[in-house]
Parts: sequence; structure tokens; C-alpha cells
Amino acid sequence: MRYFIITGTSSGLGEALAENAVRNHNKVFCISRRLNNRLKELGAEMHNGFWYFEQDLTDIDKIPALMNQIFSFIDPSTATEITLINNAGIVEPVGPLGKFSPEEIHQHITINLTAPVILSNEFIKESAKFTCRKNIVNISSGAAANPYYGWTLYCSTKAGLNMVTRTVGIEQSETENPVRIISVAPGVLDTGMQEKIRQVDHKDFPMKHKFEKLFDEKKLVNPAKAAEGIFELLTSDFDTNGIITDLRKSQ
Ligand SMILES: NC(=O)c1ccc[n+]([C@@H]2O[C@H](COP(=O)([O-])OP(=O)(O)OC[C@H]3O[C@@H](n4cnc5c(N)ncnc54)[C@H](OP(=O)(O)O)[C@@H]3O)[C@@H](O)[C@H]2O)c1
Repeated sequence: MRYFIITGTSSGLGEALAENAVRNHNKVFCISRRLNNRLKELGAEMHNGFWYFEQDLTDIDKIPALMNQIFSFIDPSTATEITLINNAGIVEPVGPLGKFSPEEIHQHITINLTAPVILSNEFIKESAKFTCRKNIVNISSGAAANPYYGWTLYCSTKAGLNMVTRTVGIEQSETENPVRIISVAPGVLDTGMQEKIRQVDHKDFPMKHKFEKLFDEKKLVNPAKAAEGIFELLTSDFDTNGIITDLRKSQ
């Protein structure tokens, strides 16, 4: 039995990943602030085992108890694979540094970097006794490697997440019964995040036109297609821990 713990499942890529996992008869744990009723109904219909946790991941003190609860539902005698997908993320606030409140900066870094690190820490701890295949997938972005005016926070947190993948990859490659960890940039997706990008002031984000053009030309990637690509990567043997990959290159 394969188990998936997926964050940010109320919309966009996270919703598509969870739907794919549920339809393929896996057990799925979803986490986001808003409940996704459509997924909940699908989960009930499929009878595989489906749990939804309406949790704000910026409440970082609650993450260890949440992961402990999730692992209490995982049966070590039947688990063949357990995967954490750190997908929840935000792009805002957008604009040059010098404009933001400490709270806005703190919120962004917490959701995009601190929470995935804490979730990964708890995942490694809780899964130590499981001998099955174990994976962490960090949803990254091309912005991790490319500085964009107005995206200091987004570029930095995604770059930080990639470095987490690389360092944990080294640690796990020296561990018996390791967790495989990978960062995946999913491409430019047709989700709520892109809607937000199209609404920002051009002065705050001059590269906005690049994303508007992709939208106008109907070149945004369907999140269901990106989810498929991510699951294909997982079923292939990505033996090298700590790799950073981009769906646009691997497809
Ligand atoms: N869209 C793109 O073009 C693109 C490109 C490259 C990478 N990505 C990455 O792909 C991932 C998914 O983005 P998306 O495009 O699917 O965006 P989205 O539709 O805006 O979804 C973001 C998800 O994150 C969740 N989230 C945000 N803040 C949260 C919090 N405090 N606690 C718990 N969950 C929270 C949201 O749920 P709630 O609001 O219900 O909490 C939502 O389910 C992100 O990591 C993003 O950086 C996206």
C-alpha cells in the first residue's frame, strides 16, 4: 500500500496531486487551511483511506503532533511506500525589498521554507522504523535558480528549499534505510498562483509580461499534467538522493 502526505491540496497542483493519488488507489493525507470538499467526496467514493487536515502550516508548533497523528494511521505491515510532497507555497508579497512588514516576510518564509523543513524533519523521524521505500518531494520553481525583480522572497525560499534537498540528500545517502529526497520545478502552471501574478502591479514585478504572454497564448501547464509528471518521476528509480529537477527538462 502506498501512502501520500500532500500539503496545499485545496487548489492548484496540490489538488491535482491528491486527486491523482486517490484515483490510483493510494492512501492520501491532505493538508491545507481550506477543506477541499471535492477531494473529500472523491476520497469517500474511492474507499482507499483518505484523511483531510485543515491546518495552517504557519502554526509550526502544531506540525509535530500532526505528523505523529498521520503516522499513527500508517500500517507498517502493509506500507510499501510513504511519500511526503511539500507542495503548499505562496508567491506574495511581490515587490522590491524595502516595502514589506516584518510579518509579511515572516509569513512568506514560514510557509515556503520553514514549514517544509519541519515537515521533512518530522517525516524522517517518524518514518525511521519503516523499512519500505520513503520519499520527500519538494515542489520548487525555476525561480530558485533565477533572480527576478520583485521576487526576492519567492526566489530565496525556493533556492533554500533546493539546498535542503541537496544537504538532506547527502545525509540520507549515508543512512541505512534512507529517505529519498528530490526537488521538482513543475513548470508554469494554470493555477491560482498565476492569477495572483497577473494581478500584481507591473512596477512591482516587471517580468509579469512573460507570464501574461504564456496565459494569453494558452501555454500554462495544466496542473493535472504536471502531477502526472511528478508521479512518473517517483515511479522511476531516482537513486540519486538530493537531485534538483525540472519537469520541463525531464519530459
Ligand atoms: N503556479 C505556478 O506557475 C508554479 C510554478 C512553479 C512552482 N509552483 C509551486 O507549486 C506549488 C503549488 O502552487 P499552485 O500554483 O498550485 O498554487 P495555489 O493554487 O495557490 O495553491 C497553493 C496551495 O498552498 C496552500 N497554502 C498556502 N498557504 C498555506 C498555509 N499557511 N497553510 C497550509 N497550506 C497553505 C493553499 O491552501 P489554503 O489556502 O487552503 O491553505 C493551496 O492549497 C507551490 O509551492 C508553488 O510555489 C507553482
